[in-house]
Amino acid sequence: MTSQEVRAQFLDFFKGKKHKIVPSAPMVIKDDPTLMFTNAGMNQFKEFFLGNSVPKSKRVSDTQKCLRVSGKHNDLEEVGKDTYHHTMFEMLGNWSFGDYFKKEAIQWAWELLTEVYGIDKKSLYVSVFEGSDDGDNLEMDIEAYDLWKAIVPEDRIIMGNKKDNFWEMGDQGPCGPCSEIHVDIRSKEEKAKISGASLVNQDHPQVVEIWNLVFMQYNRKANGKLENLPEKHVDTGMGFERLCMVLQGVKSNYDTDVFTPLIREIEAITGHKYGKNKEMDIAIRVVADHVRAVAFSIADGQLPSNTGAGYVIRRILRRAIRYGFTFLDTNKPFIYRLVKVLSHTMGKAFPELREQYQLIENVIKEEENSFLGTLEQGLVLLDSVIKSSKDKTIDGKKAFELYDTFGFPIDLTSLILEERGYKLDAEGFEKALKAQKDRSRAASEVSKDDWTVLIEDAVQEFVGYDSLEADVKLVKYRKIQSKKEGEQFQLVFNLTPFYAEGGGQVGDKGYLEAPNGDVFYIVDTKRENNETVHFCQSLPKNTFQTFKATVDKKQRSRTESNHTATHLLHQALREILGTHVEQKGSAVHSKYLRFDFSHFSKVTPEKLRAVENFVNARIEGQLPFEENRNIPLKEAMEQGAMALFGEKYGDTVRTVKFGRSIELCGGTHVKNTADIWHFKIVSEGAVAAGIRRIEAITSDAVKEFYHKNNRMLFEIKDLMNNPQDPVKAVTSLQEENALLKKQMEQLLKDKAKGLKRELISELEEIDGVQFLSKKVDLDAAGIKDMAFEIGGQFSNLFLLLAAENDGKALLSCYISKEIVAEKSLNAGTIVRELGKYIQGGGGGQPFFATAGGKNPEGIQDALNKAKEYIS
Ligand code: SER
Repeated sequence: MTSQEVRAQFLDFFKGKKHKIVPSAPMVIKDDPTLMFTNAGMNQFKEFFLGNSVPKSKRVSDTQKCLRVSGKHNDLEEVGKDTYHHTMFEMLGNWSFGDYFKKEAIQWAWELLTEVYGIDKKSLYVSVFEGSDDGDNLEMDIEAYDLWKAIVPEDRIIMGNKKDNFWEMGDQGPCGPCSEIHVDIRSKEEKAKISGASLVNQDHPQVVEIWNLVFMQYNRKANGKLENLPEKHVDTGMGFERLCMVLQGVKSNYDTDVFTPLIREIEAITGHKYGKNKEMDIAIRVVADHVRAVAFSIADGQLPSNTGAGYVIRRILRRAIRYGFTFLDTNKPFIYRLVKVLSHTMGKAFPELREQYQLIENVIKEEENSFLGTLEQGLVLLDSVIKSSKDKTIDGKKAFELYDTFGFPIDLTSLILEERGYKLDAEGFEKALKAQKDRSRAASEVSKDDWTVLIEDAVQEFVGYDSLEADVKLVKYRKIQSKKEGEQFQLVFNLTPFYAEGGGQVGDKGYLEAPNGDVFYIVDTKRENNETVHFCQSLPKNTFQTFKATVDKKQRSRTESNHTATHLLHQALREILGTHVEQKGSAVHSKYLRFDFSHFSKVTPEKLRAVENFVNARIEGQLPFEENRNIPLKEAMEQGAMALFGEKYGDTVRTVKFGRSIELCGGTHVKNTADIWHFKIVSEGAVAAGIRRIEAITSDAVKEFYHKNNRMLFEIKDLMNNPQDPVKAVTSLQEENALLKKQMEQLLKDKAKGLKRELISELEEIDGVQFLSKKVDLDAAGIKDMAFEIGGQFSNLFLLLAAENDGKALLSCYISKEIVAEKSLNAGTIVRELGKYIQGGGGGQPFFATAGGKNPEGIQDALNKAKEYIS
């Protein structure tokens, strides 16, 4: 059975059980501060479990792209070493939101595995939660035990502890006891020797968990306590790749058709066969696994970067590059070449891979190039650290510097040291690493109290499209504490005019006014799950009164100008550069806007001007704002609305239209494009391979921009004694400057010629070598040029030139290649030895090397000593 068929049968089965099949949510999460990536199928349904949102269908099923590389569920370091862990994997799941519970979940799972997929019942084990006597004091799941007992012999039911059989999404959130289904795919002989039951949950590569049935009934609060959920739910998750392994009769996930095409390609590129060498096999698995995680993230709009989710993606890709570099001898980009195979095998189920194929390839290739450069540079630096070490141990602090400043991986450092017979001061490294982690954790740590709820079951309404003021009631609040911002309060109201940061647009600022006139400033507004959370520096004493909430109008209207201009810019780029342009990121602030988009080369100044003109023409055209707040997604797409990859859209959406620009958008906008006043691009550049960034300003900021430029022009004119025509004045200044430069160069050339003649006349023949050591009045580059000039005329030259510049001493030694070999001389060694007279050091190649030092007094001694090398 092919993997495509396995996936299809799962979904068909649950469709037959009246489940609605929904698409996978994006792998990169944007509006849940507790989670960076989707790490389980249930993430997108969290709010249904908590009772904060009501689902349209009570039974749902899908295959979800998951990534377990950060937070509570993190498998990154395991991946590659065994045959059944992955960073990115697919999770097949079925859900009941307050509908069926344990009985159906258990029966259907068994039916699908044994009757539809035909897995031998005797190879399956199930586990049941045994209860816990820790602070939670949970009882054993007797109901699940009895349900399983009716299906499988009791010796196949295993009691499981809290770690294995009580599933929690994170430190907070929905959770509950679970029953896992494990499969034993060992041979008959092996099964006869050791029972499968004893190997369940023992990290055996062939006795593995394939399906987890979670019976959601609690919510873990911030204070660590469990609270009953309003209803009981089912959340199941089956590892797709493991299921394929079982159904395809192979012993490793990497031997299924999900991975073999990738592995064959890696073999073809690197010339190394899978299955021949343990370390290479790990590396091949790492690469095959990681390319999936990275490609899917990029398709979801998450590019590698230096912060947040982007940084995690960069680390995954770098781990793959490093394994390739170390174990597969790859020193050229190669991972990007796997994207084609990947999009071929998975593009049908996940069309985003096909649509974004070119971009994914470009980005990965660029990252590979740059990290390979880092690796090479790191090797040189490590080399010098090794050479300067006095004993056979490398200082942990130095290794940390290499890792922290240059991104040189520590395991590669250890490996190289080991190969050369050196040891790493691992303790010192760990200490430095921990100190840095503590520093950054302290800076970003935020502790949160539980919510204090004042109004139960309140549904929040956003009125900020139509109004900037509203009378509001506090629904709930909590205190948060961060090192950076100090103590703050998060407030949720029954209705709000405040726009919460989202879709690139910043959150509103403003204030709350109590009936007695007290004012409380709202410094930011963010979206958390489905709620608008207002950040306030203090909490009103009387929380039950009605407040007047007012949005800062100036900031809002400037932001709106920039948001509408962003839509027009998007339209302009697609019209002028082509429809390959896709939005890859955007930031809409009150002071400026930033727009990232896919495009393969620099945008020429002419095109930029055309883009600017296009937008300004639409501003002058006074296009009215037209919106549709509730239109079916399909209809909006048919109207030509622009949607973004990696964005989660509901069945109905909001469209925002200005003339022919129409976008799916939740942001706020000007009422007429004339309100933007003017649009000005201030910069254009690259952010990653194939991704460009434009920064622009509108309205007041453009006025400020022109004022500033005007002031600058006056200052320039002033400096040049107020010429009539400043452009002409600058041009003649430039011409004069060029002439002076030319004359200066000629003078220097003449001087050098004279010096060269002088030096040659002073050469002394010793033992068949033309020798001279002398102090000259040149800088480092001048000395080098001079040495090579004279060197070009002799094949038996030994030249030591010294100079004093800005109180520092410089020594350069040139030795003709012929006598380097003949007399076993080495300029590098010589300058290092002579370097001690000038209290410095240096190095270079055997025929030319340079040392710098802080003691010019020692120059003469060094010059005197030079003769000894040849006589
Ligand atoms: N949430 C559970 C898991 O991720 C079942 O879907 O294992």
